[in-house]
Amino acid sequence: MSHTVGTEIDVVAASRIHNYELYPDGLQKIAWVKERMPLLRSLEEQFSKEQPFAGQNVVICLHLEAKTAYLAKVVKAGGAKVAVVASNPLSTQDDVVAGLVHDGIYAYAWYGATTEEYNHHIQAALDFHPTLVIDDGGDLVSTLHRERLAQTAEIKGGCEETTTGILRLRAMEEQGVLKFPMIAVNDAYSKYLFDNRYGTGQSVWDGIMRTTNLVVAGKTAVVIGYGWCGKGVSLRAAALGAKVIVCEVDPIKALEAVMDGYAVMPMVEAAKHGDFFITVTGDKDCIVGEHFDVMKDGAILANAGHFDVEISIPALRERAVSVQVARKNVEEFKMQDGRKIYLLAEGRLVNLAAGDGHPAEVMDMTFALQALALRYVHEGSLTPGVHRLPQMLDEQVARMRLAATGVKIDELSTEQRAYLASWGHEDVAP
Ligand SMILES: NC(=O)c1ccc[n+]([C@@H]2O[C@H](COP(=O)([O-])OP(=O)(O)OC[C@H]3O[C@@H](n4cnc5c(N)ncnc54)[C@H](O)[C@@H]3O)[C@@H](O)[C@H]2O)c1
Repeated sequence: MSHTVGTEIDVVAASRIHNYELYPDGLQKIAWVKERMPLLRSLEEQFSKEQPFAGQNVVICLHLEAKTAYLAKVVKAGGAKVAVVASNPLSTQDDVVAGLVHDGIYAYAWYGATTEEYNHHIQAALDFHPTLVIDDGGDLVSTLHRERLAQTAEIKGGCEETTTGILRLRAMEEQGVLKFPMIAVNDAYSKYLFDNRYGTGQSVWDGIMRTTNLVVAGKTAVVIGYGWCGKGVSLRAAALGAKVIVCEVDPIKALEAVMDGYAVMPMVEAAKHGDFFITVTGDKDCIVGEHFDVMKDGAILANAGHFDVEISIPALRERAVSVQVARKNVEEFKMQDGRKIYLLAEGRLVNLAAGDGHPAEVMDMTFALQALALRYVHEGSLTPGVHRLPQMLDEQVARMRLAATGVKIDELSTEQRAYLASWGHEDVAP
């Protein structure tokens, strides 16, 4: 397999995708989001001139839909040779990856890949010999360290997109095994306050509603995990007219949910009341056997956390006398007593596996952060470990988004700056 030529024929031949002929639809989807991603557009213009990634091989492991595709194109515009690989077997849009291949980006992914195929794709992406990586959930970086340790020396650094990936990176850092610097993009304020909260809040309900075609108003939504994503999912559930119950293990988050006006109770109690259950914890086994046993007939289960381990699907299968596909992305589990429980998108992130992911305007911020973070890690000389994105870049993205939205804000005067930095307050009368 040759990666040196970079011609269309070379890229098509080297890529592993479902069907190249789907590329016109993919290009249309990418064009739609590009129009709505002004921050990335301005970075594309800047990178085209400055070529910050000239000579670099960049592997991007993300949910492969249109917004991600545009990020990949922006990185390529910066002079890099780019390959994309899926961070989840159900979130790839085959037409979008075909569009990327058409535009000279190597791709290793198709929708519905088996675990074996998924791992194979990651290996193929690593054969590309990245010098910079963007990861989402940690599978790429973890595979590199577990199976290709020697290759880590070729890597200048990378960026991690999500909470779960950062947890894994921090575990690696604590054990002293992380071999290169990784920027925790998720921990930038311009990321989690908007993407995790408003992005997940909107797209999770979009995924559930388009998949089930059911009403939310008047029903009870149980949200398990009241972190940044859980806050958004709860907020939008309430806005749709649902009664919201929150389940938490952290006393501060639980109290926050109480003060935000939601009912808070243990899962074993909430299980009796819910019409919709949404797990969004990053943890495993949040809904298990004892919960399925008391659920109402018709209960709908969805996960929005990174991995498909939050709902115990083995325990659900064990209890079912029959399992059938009720509609696309909806599996019906019939219990012994006749109750039916429905699982959406095989328990994988519902907003991406059964939807288009976050809105373009939200991902414009997240991916502008990714593009800036990649440049920062490439041009800096950071030590191996997990690093925060500098506040200046975080604020730059918020300012760019405000400008794009047409919103102006005030600025501190010199006197105010001095006052805020002082402690004696000599000029203030008591
Ligand atoms: N679907 C998406 O598009 C999307 C977007 C961003 C993040 N994520 C993923 O969603 C998950 C949550 O992300 P976040 O940023 O909200 O994390 P977070 O750390 O802010 O919140 C997670 C919350 O879950 C709680 N929790 C943990 N175990 C629990 C349990 N057993 N029962 C009840 N609560 C429990 C924690 O106390 C915490 O408050 C992660 O896996 C993250 O990678 C998904």
